[in-house]
Parts: sequence; C-alpha cells; structure tokens
Amino acid sequence: SKRYPELKRDSRFATLTPEHVAYFRELLGEKGVIDAVTEPAFQDDVEPFNSDWMGKYRGHGQLVLRPGSTEEVSKVLKYCNDQRLAVVPQGGNTGLVGGSVPVFDEVVVSMGRMQTIRSFDDLSGTLVVDAGVVLEVADAYLAERGYLFPLDLGAKGSCHVGGNISTNAGGLRLLRYGSLHGTVLGVEAVLPDGTIIDDLCKLRKNNTGYDLKQLFIGAEGTLGMVTGVSIACPQRPAAVNVAFLGLKSYEQALRAFREAKSQLSEILSAFELMDASSQDIVRTVRPDARRPLEGEHEFYCLIETSGSNAEHDTAKLEAFLEDVMEKEIVEDGVLAQDETQVKALWTWREGITECLGHLGGVYKYDLSIPLPELYQLVEDTRTQLASKGLIGDGDEFPAAKVVGYGHMGDGNLHLNIPVRRYDSAVEQALEPFVYEWIAKRQGSISAEHGLGLAKKKFIGYSRNETLVSLMKQIKKTFDPNGIMNPYKYI
Ligand code: FAD
Ligand code: MLT
Ligand code: ZN
Repeated sequence: SKRYPELKRDSRFATLTPEHVAYFRELLGEKGVIDAVTEPAFQDDVEPFNSDWMGKYRGHGQLVLRPGSTEEVSKVLKYCNDQRLAVVPQGGNTGLVGGSVPVFDEVVVSMGRMQTIRSFDDLSGTLVVDAGVVLEVADAYLAERGYLFPLDLGAKGSCHVGGNISTNAGGLRLLRYGSLHGTVLGVEAVLPDGTIIDDLCKLRKNNTGYDLKQLFIGAEGTLGMVTGVSIACPQRPAAVNVAFLGLKSYEQALRAFREAKSQLSEILSAFELMDASSQDIVRTVRPDARRPLEGEHEFYCLIETSGSNAEHDTAKLEAFLEDVMEKEIVEDGVLAQDETQVKALWTWREGITECLGHLGGVYKYDLSIPLPELYQLVEDTRTQLASKGLIGDGDEFPAAKVVGYGHMGDGNLHLNIPVRRYDSAVEQALEPFVYEWIAKRQGSISAEHGLGLAKKKFIGYSRNETLVSLMKQIKKTFDPNGIMNPYKYI
C-alpha cells in the first residue's frame, strides 16, 4: 500500500481523546461508533474503513462514526468543526483515487446506516433517497416500478448514491442518460458547521439563482456531507440488446462508433471499448468463463441498445451488425440471445477492473481526450515503458501490460498499467508523462473518478490557476477550518 512521505499531518487538527469518543457515544449510541481510540482491540473493525477498494491507500484512522439521520450528521460535523477534528466522508468505499479513506487519523463518517428510500413519484419518476442507499438497491426498487436509475457502474453492489453524487460518477450509460449534473434534481447536505442545506428540489426546472447543489456533485467530500438526493429516473426500457464485436484496429472501432450512432441513434445506450490486453487479463483471471468470440482481435466493442419495442430494436441491431460486417469494419460479432447472455457479455467489460487487481498492483488513469487520438495514449505509454526497460513478460519487469478500455461513447479512456509490484521507476516513467500527454491535447486528467489523493498534485494539468483559485475560495466559504477531507485535492 501507498506511503505518504510527502505529506505531513496538519497540526491544526486535534488528536482524538476519550472525551471526544464519549461525546459521540452519547450522541450516536453503540451502533453509531466503532472506537479504537479507547478500545484498541477494535482496531481490526476500523481497518476496512482505513483501506480503499484497491488496497492501495491506507490511513491510520481510529474512529468510525455511523450517524443514522441528517440531524445526527449535523451534530457530528458541528462537534468536529468546533473541536477541529478532521473528517473523511465515506460511502461504499469503492472510489479509485484514494479519496474515501483517511491519510492520517481523520475521523471516518460513514453513511452506511442512512439507507432509507424516502419517496418515489411514479408519474414524474423522481426518486428521493438517503445518501447511504446502495446503487443496486435503488435500481432494484425502481425496477419494480418500471423505472431505472440513470447511472450504472461495475461497483453498483457496494457504492452508495451519495458516493456517486460526490464523485459525479459517469459509468456505463452516460451516453444515453447524461451526467448526474443533469439528472440530480436536488441535494440535502450538511456543512461542517452543522448547517443543513435543504435543497431537495423535485422539480425538473428551477432557475432561481445559483444552482448550489451542483457544487456537491463531484466535490469528493471536501465541502460537506451529502445526506439526501433527489434524482430524475427514466422509464425502464422494455427491451435491452447487446452486441459484442471484434475489430482489427482502433480506426475500425471509430468507424463502428460512427455507424452505431447513425444506425442505432435513439436506442443506443452504451458503446464500450476494450483492447486485446484487457480481455487477456479477464481470460487469465477467469479461465472458465466462456469467451464471446472465438478468434483473436486487437479490439472489442460492446454495444447496448435500450428501447420500448424488442422486435424493432433486435431488427435494427441485426441490420447494423450485418452492415458493419459487410463493410469489413468488424471482423466478427455476436448478439446476446437472452438476458443471461446479455449479463455474460457485460462481464467481459465490467469484470476488467476487478481482474486487473489480481497481479499485484495497478496504476490507473481515467481521462477524456477527443476520440481520434484517444487510444494513441495507450500505444505511447507502451513505448515509454519499453524504452526504459520496465515492461515485459518475466518477473524481472515490474510492469506486465498497458491496458486500455473505457466509455468510448463518452470519449473516456481508462489507461491501466497492471504491475507485479509498485515501483518508483514505473511511477516516474508514467508521471508526469501521461498528464503532459493529456494536457497537450486539452484533455481531462479526471474524466469520472475524481482527483482524491491520487491526482491531487496534477489538477493544474486540466484546470488553470484562476479556476483552482476560485475552487479554493469556495472551499474556504463552505469549510473555513478545512476539516472536510483534508490532504486530498484541495
Ligand atoms: P466512496 O468511495 O466511499 O467515496 C468516494 C468519494 O466521495 C470520497 O472522496 C468520499 O469522501 C466522498 N463521499 C462519499 N460519500 C459521501 C457523502 N455522502 N457525502 C460527501 N462525500 C462523500 N466510477 C465511474 O465514474 N464510472 C464507472 O464506471 C466506475 N466503475 C467502477 C467499477 C468498480 C469495480 C469500482 C470499484 C469503482 C468504479 N468506479 C466508477 C469508481 C466510482 O467512483 C465509485 O464506484 C462510486 O461512484 C463511489 O461511490 P462510493 O459510495 O463507493 O464512494
Ligand atoms: C470502469 O469503467 O470500468 C470503471 O470506471 C472502473 C475502472 O476504471 O477500472
Ligand atoms: Zn469507467
């Protein structure tokens, strides 16, 4: 796991005492406190909150608070602010940039007990939930009512809606349903001084002054705690079809995307790219999984359509597949025949993240670049590591592969370098190389995962000084004592 020699604990923050713990116990009761401050034997129970999903970032927190209501969150934060105790908000702890765990001894405020679905209006499709509701639970609730959560991602079984809002997660269907900046209608949040911001608007349209809730979407816990969310949910599509294509080059993937947009237009709901390396990794980790296509291809695309008429959608997707095969854009392709096959095809895309972690470690980059050059970064990164003798098949090489996959339909690439061991030579070869490459093309160094701790130093590659200085002013206004998620990007 990562060490932070470059970071120093901020001495303005207080150290936890038994008196602090006694206050929280009185406020939240036994089930609201996991305390290793006065009871070191409980450190094992605190550890999962100290360590991120990748096992890459590890903090030294000794206290986890689990408030059960917005009022309790308000009292917790007010007390922390008055006592100058630093706080890390935590949702499902699936974030990929080290933002959700302490760096030193910050208090973890976990939303795990706030899991109530507050209301649903089945005419407008507006859902109001506590921030701690798990994404998959919210979606299952909506499915029973003929609706869909407008966000889907591989971590849906663990991540919280509040965590999704706080990272502005993009996911697999942004192409169709848009960003959370558009679908979130309202936010309830608590500022560090305990002020409850009740902006749980349920209206589609509301142009009354500044739209302050937008600041919490993607704030990564640096401004306050999100406690409730209202969100506009679309009708659940009656028909979902998936095609899995094999292609010989990135140029052909670009052509396939253009054809998919024009031929599938209103029913297209996902267009995902996977390179051969990403599929090799899934095959190695899951040798028994049945491969979608028999032959070897340099690239694979997963195309999903969602619509209201199964016959119409299937006919359209079949015609598309025939056309792109005839034009030799695609080397091979398969259509899922039923829901089980739809799920099976998706595992070859959604499973990449988990499989990448099996080797030892992984350097992850999440970027936006205009499509024509998107994949060039993967090639150039391979060349960069090879030129320094850092990549290869034997154990003597720290890096095993350079892998590219992502939400091609949104111009979002995930560049990943699975390594046998974390190695400063690899890190130095990658950074700032990758960031400079992106900045040169006016891309974004954080398309959807956020900055957290991992990208803290690199914000300047995608945001100019004026913007960063405005962000700092906003941070000061909301959190003058800087207790919310310190040491992270701002
Ligand atoms: P956490 O990890 O707990 O927290 C993330 C950040 O938000 C932290 O900075 C934390 O302090 C803050 N935070 C959490 N809850 C709150 C709150 N209530 N109030 C204030 N701050 C809060 N991301 C994508 O965008 N697209 C994907 O396709 C995608 N796929 C993924 C697949 C896998 C297998 C995994 C492991 C992760 C994936 N992610 C993806 C990363 C993504 O950021 C998260 O899965 C998700 O949005 C984080 O939610 P969480 O509840 O786990 O938040
Ligand atoms: C994905 O698209 O699979 C996620 O963003 C996670 C990842 O980047 O690995
Ligand atoms: Zn992603």
